[in-house]
Amino acid sequence: MNRKQNYQWEKLSLGVCYYPEHWSRELWKEDLNRMLSAGIKTVRIAEFAWSKFEPTEGEFTFEFFDSFLETVKEAGMKVIFGTPTATPPAWLTEKYPEVLNQTKDGVILRHGARRHYNYNSPKYQELCARIVEKLGEHYGMHPSICGWQIDNELNCEVAEFYSESDTLAFRKFLQEKYKTLEELNRAWGTVFWNQTYTAWEEVYVPRHTISDSTNPHEVLDYTRFISESAIRFCKMQSDILRKYIAPGVFITTNGMFPNLDNHRMEKECLDVYTYDSYPNFAYCLSEDPKNNRELNDRKWSDKLTEVRSICPHFGIMEQQSGANGWNTRMEAPAPKPGQMALWAMQSIAHGADYVSFFRWRTCTMGTEIYWHGILDYDNRDNRKLAEVREIHEWTRKLKPVTGAEYVAKVGVLKDYSNVFDAQLDKWHGRLDKSSYKELFIASQLTHTPMDYVYLQEDSEVEELAAYPVLFYPHPLILSEGKMELLTAYVEQGGCLVLGCRTGQKDENGQCPMTAMPGLAAELVGATVSDFTFVGPGDEDMFIVFGGKKIEAPVFNDILEVVKEDVKVLGTYEGNYYDGKPAFVERACGKGKVLYFGATFTRENAKVILEYVNALSPYEAVVHLPEECELSVRRKEGKTYLFVLNFAHKAVGISLKQPVTDLKTGQQVKGELELKAYEPRVFLL
Ligand code: GAL
Repeated sequence: MNRKQNYQWEKLSLGVCYYPEHWSRELWKEDLNRMLSAGIKTVRIAEFAWSKFEPTEGEFTFEFFDSFLETVKEAGMKVIFGTPTATPPAWLTEKYPEVLNQTKDGVILRHGARRHYNYNSPKYQELCARIVEKLGEHYGMHPSICGWQIDNELNCEVAEFYSESDTLAFRKFLQEKYKTLEELNRAWGTVFWNQTYTAWEEVYVPRHTISDSTNPHEVLDYTRFISESAIRFCKMQSDILRKYIAPGVFITTNGMFPNLDNHRMEKECLDVYTYDSYPNFAYCLSEDPKNNRELNDRKWSDKLTEVRSICPHFGIMEQQSGANGWNTRMEAPAPKPGQMALWAMQSIAHGADYVSFFRWRTCTMGTEIYWHGILDYDNRDNRKLAEVREIHEWTRKLKPVTGAEYVAKVGVLKDYSNVFDAQLDKWHGRLDKSSYKELFIASQLTHTPMDYVYLQEDSEVEELAAYPVLFYPHPLILSEGKMELLTAYVEQGGCLVLGCRTGQKDENGQCPMTAMPGLAAELVGATVSDFTFVGPGDEDMFIVFGGKKIEAPVFNDILEVVKEDVKVLGTYEGNYYDGKPAFVERACGKGKVLYFGATFTRENAKVILEYVNALSPYEAVVHLPEECELSVRRKEGKTYLFVLNFAHKAVGISLKQPVTDLKTGQQVKGELELKAYEPRVFLL
């Protein structure tokens, strides 16, 4: 199964990140009471507090957090307890420098910040296992603990590891994968540029090479290795915790970072997934105002869609509640009145059943003095706290939505081999970057809810069959297994839309000597006879389709029909392949496959969505302006429409059927105005 969740949230609720070690004990009780009065019932603690438990090697003490947990218990609140492994203590890194990570150039990442360790150091693994074991033993059955967070944001800040332990572990990973050096040499194509290995000791994690053009097959495996290392590190901790925690207590980790198969991590180690949502990054000073501000904070809906593909009813461990910045980075301004609530509702609209703010109060010391929390340094009540109360009011009204499924009829496929390959192969990266972004924008602007669906080794055709239409933009890497699944999906009635460059590579990232789209050629019934990226001067490439001209940017596969039952839907206009097939369709079983020779844009995607009858499925219920996002969740036959106004001005919407406005409990129909940043939820 693609998505897995062992833990279901009982009811939609609010939490906050709190650091008892940052404040005097006198403040704890008052803080907790103020949280409660704003509707916050859970606090996440301890994820950076190793020294509070093990101040010197092997000396364990629990007094500090025992006392905090006692205060929590008295307040009747709950705690998500973090394992503190993201920040090893100074005594540890001083005595065992081998636990530290290194840059590719061999520069050691020292004590003084965070995430400076490597996953593969046997010493670090031993010391982490010990502290987690101690915490599990001591706190595992504590009645106030409802969940555990492993480490903090695995692969955040640093997602590459080059220590000696990593090289040793990489060799082991490769030995297990390839068994012999001959096989490794073949998979990595080392005959090219005389890279042939004659002993395992000659193999390293990637090192500096000319213009960083290290063997691509090696880098692809290295990326898989990092993912494997992070998952193993996480599993080591979750296996220990499981020995101690009470039934019904969940294990999670937070964030969603690169070089990590988050789906596998969820399946193998966690009960529920949590994400850290900071939509304010859309307003960063460093963002290019012209190019990158498109859809602004709505871009976070794209990330939340990814999170939902891992775990349908996820939690938000850190929800933006103030301006962001470190003392070394000046980032985004304070959320405007209404934005905090809008962003919290954005999370809920996409499937979150728990929303925890980062953080209770802005820290008065350290790197994050500008990463603002709900309260400011002065600790007075403020508009942000008042907004948390409003959000709490919303959560009360939205209780029946807890556990409701997000409803999408269009899916966009992804898989980690292609995600990793697109990071290192610039040609591939350019296609993916453009098509995935544009498909997301198309779905947003046309109010066509979509899901991401990751193809995994254990994916089943039933998961795919839930989507009448699936786009798989540029699966350069295909495998027999994936093709079997996709063919079954089509035969059973699905509509699969493939984009250019499909099937160019095998699982090692090598290009087989077969006509493209390689393993997909049989299903598509057409091959690629010629291809080119759209070069300077040729930007105005079009495909003539159904009497319209639609854009054909970035890359063009020029097609040749091989099977008789293939219909040419569109031909190119422009360049030397003018008039040649660009867009083909083939019926197969109960479904069909479409091959589109270029990348997707919001405009051509719209035309394709219309052609396959998947455009704007709620248009008969509600007409929305582009400024609004539409998300739909359904439970027990009830459909909830989340309409979020991301504009800083009021907008009008038109309800074509009577629906119940959950905020007022009233039936509404016809024209309605949403205030700037206002969310509304309608029961259909
Ligand atoms: C998150 C992290 C938090 C805090 C926050 C602000 O990425 O999990 O610990 O650092 O960012 O920088």
